[in-house]
Amino acid sequence: MRSLWLVGVATLASVLAACASTAAPVAGDPQPLPQLTAPDETPTVTSTSPPAGAPGTLVAPDTVPASSVGEPEARAGEADFDDVSTSSGDRRYPTLGSSDLDVEHYDVALEYAPQTRTLAGTVTVRGRVLRSVTAIALDLAGPDVLAVSGREGPLTWRAEPSELLVALPAAAAAGDAFAVTVEYAVTVVAPDLFDAEAAGLFPTGDGLWAVNEPGGAHTWLPVNDHPTDKAGWTFALRVPAPLTAIANGELAGSATAGGWTTWEWEQAEPMAPYLITFLVGDYELVDAGRSATGVPLHHAVIAGADGIDAYTEVTDAQLTFFTDLFGAYPFDRYGIALTDSASGLAMETQGLSLFSADDLDGTLGPRQQLLLAHELGHQWFGDAVSPAAWDDIWLNEGLATYCEWLWLEHAGVATVEQLAADARAGLGAGGPVSAPAELFGNWSYDGGGAAVHAIRRTLGDSVFFPALAGWVVAHLDASATTADFQRHLEQFSGRDLSALFAAWVHAERLPDEFPGTPVSAPTNT
Ligand code: ARG
Ligand code: ZN
Repeated sequence: MRSLWLVGVATLASVLAACASTAAPVAGDPQPLPQLTAPDETPTVTSTSPPAGAPGTLVAPDTVPASSVGEPEARAGEADFDDVSTSSGDRRYPTLGSSDLDVEHYDVALEYAPQTRTLAGTVTVRGRVLRSVTAIALDLAGPDVLAVSGREGPLTWRAEPSELLVALPAAAAAGDAFAVTVEYAVTVVAPDLFDAEAAGLFPTGDGLWAVNEPGGAHTWLPVNDHPTDKAGWTFALRVPAPLTAIANGELAGSATAGGWTTWEWEQAEPMAPYLITFLVGDYELVDAGRSATGVPLHHAVIAGADGIDAYTEVTDAQLTFFTDLFGAYPFDRYGIALTDSASGLAMETQGLSLFSADDLDGTLGPRQQLLLAHELGHQWFGDAVSPAAWDDIWLNEGLATYCEWLWLEHAGVATVEQLAADARAGLGAGGPVSAPAELFGNWSYDGGGAAVHAIRRTLGDSVFFPALAGWVVAHLDASATTADFQRHLEQFSGRDLSALFAAWVHAERLPDEFPGTPVSAPTNT
C-alpha cells in the first residue's frame, strides 16, 4: 500500500539517517489506469424536473438520482447533448476537460458550514467555445445541481455522473463567448487519503483543506478540469465567523454580517483548476513583506502551528537561488500555507503552497528544506508551465524533485550527483518516466529527477539552466508536453536529443550510468 509520503522522500531517506523513519513511496507493480469517475455508461435521464430542494437548500447526495435534468420549457429539446466534447483527450483521464472550451474566468461563490459539512455554491463560468456547438460540458461529479442559467435566464441542463451538460441559449460558432451560472450543493465527504490520487476537499474539525491534483476540483465545483485550460478566478467564500476562508491570489476584502464572514480573493494570473487552494479554519494571514527578489510574501498559518518564522528566511533564500537558475519567479506573490492537512502531503497550490503543520513544525531540518524547495520549484515547473496531459507529470514532479536536489546541495546536505544516483538506483518497476504506472509514484519523482539529471549532464550547465529558464518563458501561463520539452531543448542546444529521451524518458528501465560528465553546484548562484 502506498502511503502519503509523496514528495521525494525516498531519495532523501536513503541519504539521511535523519529521515530514515519516514515511510517512502515504493512503486508498486504496474496497475491499470485509475478511474476518476464511475465507469462508462451514462444512466438514462430519470427526471424531467429539477432535483428536490429549492436553490440554497442543501440536499444530501444520495437523495438525488445520479442523472438529473432541468428543462425550461422554451428550450427543451433544442440542444444536441450528444455533440459535446466531454474530454480534453487525456489518455490517463479521458473524462477530464472538454476540448470545446476555452474558459477565461471563473466567478466562484461558496458557503461552507463546517458543522454539517455542507457546501453551497454559485459558479459563473465565462469563456469561448472553440468550435460550433449548441451545448457545452463542464466537469462535475458529486454536487447536486439546483439551477443553471445564462445571461438571459434559465438554461436546459443534464447532470451525468462526471459531467454537467448545458444547452447554450443559441447555437454558438467557434470563437463565440458563453457565460453559464451553476447553483449547486454538496455534502463534503473526505476522499480516501490512502489513495494517492484521491483529491478534492478534506473536511477538518472546524473547516477544510483542499488538494485537487489531478481531478479533485470538479468534485466540488463545475470546471473545465484539465491543465490545458487556465483561467482567471475570483472567489467569495462565506464561512461562520470567526473562521477564515482562503483561496489563491490577493485578498480583495472580507465582511462579517449575521455571524458569517465572506472572504474575497482574486487570482488574476491564469491558473489551472488543479492548483486551486481552498482553506477554512482558524487561520492567521501573515504579510511578510517582500523577498530579496521583490516578491510579495503572504503566508497563512493555522492556529497552533509553530514558527512560520523558521521558514521565512529559507524561503527568501530559495527564491533567490531558483530565480538565479530559472529566471524571475512567475507570479505576483508567494506564500506558505501551514495547514491542518495530513503529514507527508504537500501541494504546489498556485502562489500559496500547502504544507502540513506537522511537517513544517517549526524545525528546519533536511525534510523541511526539501518540502519547501519542492513546492516552490513547482511554481515554475507545474504552475507557470503545466503538463498538457497527465502522462507528462514528470515535467512537474521530476523538475520539482530536481529543485529539491539543487537546494539540498546548496544547503550542504548532499550532492546532486549522489541524490540522482540513489534515485536512479531505487526505481524498480513502474516506468517509463513519460507514462508512469502511478501518477505520484517514484517514476514521476525520482525517475523524472534522474531524467532531468541525464539531460543536464548531456547539455552542460551553460546550456541546461538557460534552457530551463527559456522553457518557462516560452510556455508561461500555458501547458506543454514531453515532446514540446524535447523540441525546446533541441532548439536551445542545437542537438538531436532523441537517443537521450529514448533512454531516459521513454524507456521502461533507465540506463545504469548517467551520460556526459558529473556536475557540481551551479556557479551562477
Ligand atoms: N503535487 C504534489 C506534490 O508533489 C502531490 C499531490 C498529490 N496529490 C494527491 N491527490 N494526493 O507535492
Ligand atoms: Zn511535487
